[in-house]
Amino acid sequence: MYSIFSILLAVLPFVSGAAIPVNEQLYRNVVVTVTERQYGPSGTNGTATAGGPVATPSDRAPPMYKPPSNTTKGDGFTGYRSIGYLVDWGIYGRKFFPPMLRADQFTHIMLSFLNFNVTTGEVFMTDPAADVQVKFGTAGLEWPTPDPKVANGIVEQMFLMKHQYRNLKTMLSIGGWTYSSEGKYNKYLKTPESRAGFAKTAAKFVNDFGMDGIDVDWEYPDTPEDGLNLADLLRRCREELNKLDPKFELSIAAPCGPKNIVNLPIMEIDKHLDFWNLMAYDFAGSGFSEFAGHMSNFYPSTDDPKSTPFSYVAALDTYLAAGVNPRKINTGMPIYGRSFGGTDGLGKSFSVDQTPKGWEPGAHDYKSLPLHAGDVVFEDEKLLASGSYNPETRVLVSYDTPKMARLKAQFIMDRGLGGAFWWETSADRDTAESNLVQNVIKTFGGQKSFQQKENRLDYPESKYDNIKSWSGESVKWNRTEFEQI
Ligand SMILES: *[C@@H]1O[C@H](CO)[C@@H](O)[C@H](O)[C@H]1NC(C)=O
Ligand SMILES: *[C@@H]1O[C@H](CO)[C@@H](O)[C@H](O)[C@H]1NC(C)=O
Ligand SMILES: *[C@@H]1O[C@H](CO)[C@@H](O)[C@H](O)[C@H]1NC(C)=O
Ligand SMILES: *[C@@H]1O[C@H](CO)[C@@H](O)[C@H](O)[C@H]1NC(C)=O
Repeated sequence: MYSIFSILLAVLPFVSGAAIPVNEQLYRNVVVTVTERQYGPSGTNGTATAGGPVATPSDRAPPMYKPPSNTTKGDGFTGYRSIGYLVDWGIYGRKFFPPMLRADQFTHIMLSFLNFNVTTGEVFMTDPAADVQVKFGTAGLEWPTPDPKVANGIVEQMFLMKHQYRNLKTMLSIGGWTYSSEGKYNKYLKTPESRAGFAKTAAKFVNDFGMDGIDVDWEYPDTPEDGLNLADLLRRCREELNKLDPKFELSIAAPCGPKNIVNLPIMEIDKHLDFWNLMAYDFAGSGFSEFAGHMSNFYPSTDDPKSTPFSYVAALDTYLAAGVNPRKINTGMPIYGRSFGGTDGLGKSFSVDQTPKGWEPGAHDYKSLPLHAGDVVFEDEKLLASGSYNPETRVLVSYDTPKMARLKAQFIMDRGLGGAFWWETSADRDTAESNLVQNVIKTFGGQKSFQQKENRLDYPESKYDNIKSWSGESVKWNRTEFEQI
């Protein structure tokens, strides 16, 4: 293998007459959109095509599943979901305060993350200071003396948003990558007692916080037995939610990697869920991949398979083939990029160290991209993947551009799916043209295309007096609203 490969590599330049320049290798069959003006001082407008035909929709793999033709076909479609993760650590280094969230863009907001007790399964807040203690004043964070009967913090702000936007549901997201690490869910939710403790306390938080549902983020069941435990956990959560209000919703953040999907009893899980959030991102990254690649591509590359270790369509078709109603599936989109330093481009090796540092190594907020003036943005309409590369810094960043977000929204519509969700809301841009969420919901047809389902406002059993009887007083938004579409 090795020798054939080396020979091919050695011979190729002669076959094609000359060594292929790095740029052309990278951008073959790709529409190169020259950096938009707002992205950097050296940017110019317009698009150019580099070395090859522009992909058209007909080049794409045919969908395995035929989308239902319209909304009244009994597939349960009443409009699109638009779901944003709100991270409670966003109020610190990121300085993203809930009043800055454009809550009107969403049908659901997920507060992330709560954790659970490994002995009892009981859910607890990982940061009560952020969730229920801090106040968001005009001058920034304020810290009143904590009062166990009063919910300040993000929880109060989310409740305020629900009053302002009656179609907005808020959910409690439990788990996530960090709190699932070291097989914690798999190890400690093995017993019925721990799963019962989890479900009961999760529902209690929903009721105390004035929320509308639970999102379980178990990353990931490692064996079929773990998968069954997840299904049983969801059954119990559903039961507990039903006791409060059958309208309350239950979802999970679901994997796109085949090795993880295989452990899920998909239809056993589906019975209990209102919707699935398929995490169509993190397909490649400097901490875990062999080659620089696309991190949220929809289609696999046949020309350069090393650039697409995973693809969304492969995962999506697995869930659909198992029998999940496409309208219950929301497509995950990143509001961040993953960078690879010291690389000649997609499908090539890289050296981790040379990437500028983001919030975590190799991860960057979308609003800080492209990283350098002179980064050239590429948008591959065939794979539904985009990013930037700079031959001088030799840094490649995989991330969604506004145009890619729109194409992905069109895919969601074409395939008859249920909507979109984003990780995570603090990282988006401020103008309607460049804001990723806005580009997607505009493609859907604006807020009027949203699934309509009223939230709940009465929580007589909440342990917080101000949720139990809402006075309606709080900090007022101060930001430029986008136009409602
Ligand atoms: C780029 O587009 C903007 C907005 O359409 C326009 O104002 C500007 O003159 C254009 N710049 C160039 C270099 O074409
Ligand atoms: C389905 O809906 C779209 C947009 O809402 C509309 O343009 C189209 O004509 C509808 N198709 C059918 C078969 O009703
Ligand atoms: C988990 O629950 C046990 C039993 O109630 C308790 O002793 C322990 O402190 C809890 N752990 C955490 C991290 O809250
Ligand atoms: C809102 O923000 C704008 C711009 O930052 C500022 O000029 C204005 O004074 C603020 N208004 C209030 C009521 O804080």
